[in-house]
Amino acid sequence: MHILVLNGPNLNLLGTREPDVYGRDTLADIEAACQTLASELGVTVAFEQSNHEGAMVDALHAARTGANGVILNAGAYTHTSVALRDAISATGLSVIELHLSNTHAREPFRHVSMIAPVCSGVIQGFGAMGYGLALRAMVAHIGTRSA
Ligand code: DQA
Repeated sequence: MHILVLNGPNLNLLGTREPDVYGRDTLADIEAACQTLASELGVTVAFEQSNHEGAMVDALHAARTGANGVILNAGAYTHTSVALRDAISATGLSVIELHLSNTHAREPFRHVSMIAPVCSGVIQGFGAMGYGLALRAMVAHIGTRSA
């Protein structure tokens, strides 16, 4: 089982970006923890990050043939991107929407997710730990789907 963890705009700055909101772990720290967890769970994970909406659409298209599921922190594109939503629908992949922060406890414009209706589930508000929670959820979810 192979899982893509796709990260959107500004998440390359984790560690120094608004640490009160997003914590002090870098994306590399988070990836390292996920690689360890993936080994324990007997799956493989690949991390990708882009600041560009079209590149994220391309990554979702590529995941059609390369991945069994996608954990997606779409960053600000969560709240704006019909293109990402359509890409999720088009791939038919199981996608978990993920956020470090609890977007519902923040500004009103973050309360809307364009992608949530086409995702299998949403995990948010648990900081870097959410990536591990999402990985466990994805492995269990895909296992259930293919059983
Ligand atoms: C985020 C939440 C988004 O609202 C924001 O634009 C981000 C990060 C999160 O992980 O909490 O870039 O996706």
